[in-house]
Amino acid sequence: MPRTPVLAGNWKMHCTIAEATALADGLASKVGRVEGRRVILAPPFTALGAVRKAIEGTRIELAAQNVHDQAKGAFTGEISPAMLVDAGATSVILGHSERRALFDEGDDFIRRKLESALAIGLGPIVCVGETLAQRDDGRTLAVVSSQVDAAMRGLDATAARRVIIAYEPVWAIGTGRVATREQAQEVHGQIRALLQEIGLPAADVPILYGGSVKPDNVDGLMAEPDIDGALVGGASLEVEGFARIVEYRA
Ligand code: PGA
Repeated sequence: MPRTPVLAGNWKMHCTIAEATALADGLASKVGRVEGRRVILAPPFTALGAVRKAIEGTRIELAAQNVHDQAKGAFTGEISPAMLVDAGATSVILGHSERRALFDEGDDFIRRKLESALAIGLGPIVCVGETLAQRDDGRTLAVVSSQVDAAMRGLDATAARRVIIAYEPVWAIGTGRVATREQAQEVHGQIRALLQEIGLPAADVPILYGGSVKPDNVDGLMAEPDIDGALVGGASLEVEGFARIVEYRA
């Protein structure tokens, strides 16, 4: 079975409840019924409830941008997997490069989050990607492989099929400098080969590209055989632009 394309909007630390509602309402009426592709919105925690309401009855799915690995306890400022389910999220972004770089999240913590998310029925969207210095040093494959390996090795096939991987080269995020479709496809192919090598159902795991995806470059990216969707930051904050990304033509 071919992989269902996934178009996900990562709103980062943007949108008040009113702004999130307007954005989600706009997307619900424009792409709420789109078939043959999954549309996922990841608003900030405070807007999960409002976005849930705005997309009710549509095919759009709700995600959070982060989660803690523990079920409850003295973790001031953190949000548990069960709280996300309670708020209506069905997926969660894990290990985004901003979390890795600015909040010191490491592979072990990300793996624990992934297992906790899976255990409660949340679909993890695990982000991996190299910095510009790592790419210039010829270490892209090594860095990305070790991040994917840490997140995925040892999962059973059923669990692995519920994970989405997002390849997001750090140098392409928020910079307007998109990876070429060839650069992205090369890494996506390598990620899929690694999944195969570690015994996982590689053909069934969606691998999204992220990093300056825009309406004018999404079609080319989506034409590549191992690019199964996009994780979109800046361009997901505007109804027309994100709707065009959802309605990519490959
Ligand atoms: P960008 O962000 O589309 O603004 O580059 C992507 C992301 O960080 O997920």
